[in-house]
Amino acid sequence: MLLLTLILSATTLQFTSAASDKIICYYASWGANRPGNGKFTPEDIDANLCTHVNYAFLGLNDDGSLLILDNATDITNGGLQKVAALKKTNPALKALFSLGGYAAGTATFTAVAADATKRATMAKSALEFFETYNFDGLDVDWEYPLEGDRANFITLLSDLKEAFRPGGYLLTVAVAAIPTDAAYDVPAMSNVLDVINVMTYDFHGSWAGVTAQNSPLYASPLDGEWQRDNLNANSSITHWILSGADPQKLAIGIAFYGHAFTLVDASQHDLGSPSSGPAPPGDFTENMGTLGYNELCEFHKNGIIEWDDTQKVPYLYDDTLWVGFDNPKSVALKAQYAKDNNLAGVMIWSIETDDLHATCGTKNALLHAVNDAMKAN
Ligand SMILES: *[C@@H]1O[C@H](CO)[C@@H](O)[C@H](O)[C@H]1NC(C)=O
Ligand SMILES: *[C@@H]1O[C@H](CO)[C@@H](O)[C@H](O)[C@H]1NC(C)=O
Repeated sequence: MLLLTLILSATTLQFTSAASDKIICYYASWGANRPGNGKFTPEDIDANLCTHVNYAFLGLNDDGSLLILDNATDITNGGLQKVAALKKTNPALKALFSLGGYAAGTATFTAVAADATKRATMAKSALEFFETYNFDGLDVDWEYPLEGDRANFITLLSDLKEAFRPGGYLLTVAVAAIPTDAAYDVPAMSNVLDVINVMTYDFHGSWAGVTAQNSPLYASPLDGEWQRDNLNANSSITHWILSGADPQKLAIGIAFYGHAFTLVDASQHDLGSPSSGPAPPGDFTENMGTLGYNELCEFHKNGIIEWDDTQKVPYLYDDTLWVGFDNPKSVALKAQYAKDNNLAGVMIWSIETDDLHATCGTKNALLHAVNDAMKAN
């Protein structure tokens, strides 16, 4: 009995020493150019609240070399240099270039991944960028590899990792929530990558026609069978693991924004209420149908917030506006999920829409809530 206890506690120790400790903070560089209280520069990043900062986005030239997309923001105003400088405050912090994003599309990635010379140019260029800007790795955000890219994607990742290994540089990716939505060889990816950032958000938006959550942790009773098994963070992470990903390589995605709907009738504001379409853009993020947490604090403080205890996320309504979003409580539950399931940790898209000015009460309340949950015993 004593022996068994000893073995069990040794196993437990070993288990907990592979800690779920990564807090991967995407920073959208264009946040530095937002008006008023929406402005969030790299100096506003609290270096002690992230383990990794992923600077979004860089582009890819046709020859495979990396491309600065916004010279004024990234270079002239020192965006990249200021992110690297955060390492003076937190020497353990890693800075990564995030390459691609949804708007970048797939054509250049497809061509580079298929060509050995271009892959080599990409690896060489990345190493030069790490050196020039004092960065620590590359996050490939190819949205999304198609069936014809499946093998080339792995070859590209393997070539990059081989080039990065001597310098200890990191290689990560951002991936679709549903592994079968793109041509992923999951076991091979899990083998070569340091972290797989799973984009467990954008599950529901105005396209649904009725109000529903952006990033539910669990299914809703209103879900059909397919939705229940696909459109929530838990089912997504479960499918990634069942597809062959090492849980220790997976970071669960946390959204610091919500999907915003216009209600047909302000008095019908439950989940599943009729919506006439996306809500108008917010003054900071200027995007149809989404609002940053900072915009909810700044412009909708009088909105009514309800907690959805089945999906473990809140929603807000304010006249004909309805938003399914994340608050300190829901982001803490996602961090706890990462720990309970022995994942690598959490990934956040994106930290510049946190409550920087404590308009809702606490400065950077969401990132603090994530940290408190990750660091609690
Ligand atoms: C980018 O900005 C730097 C510094 O302001 C400048 O020296 C360089 O020429 C610019 N590059 C391009 C491509 O505009
Ligand atoms: C998590 O997702 C999996 C796959 O969809 C499902 O089988 C499981 O029941 C879910 N867990 C909870 C607590 O809902």
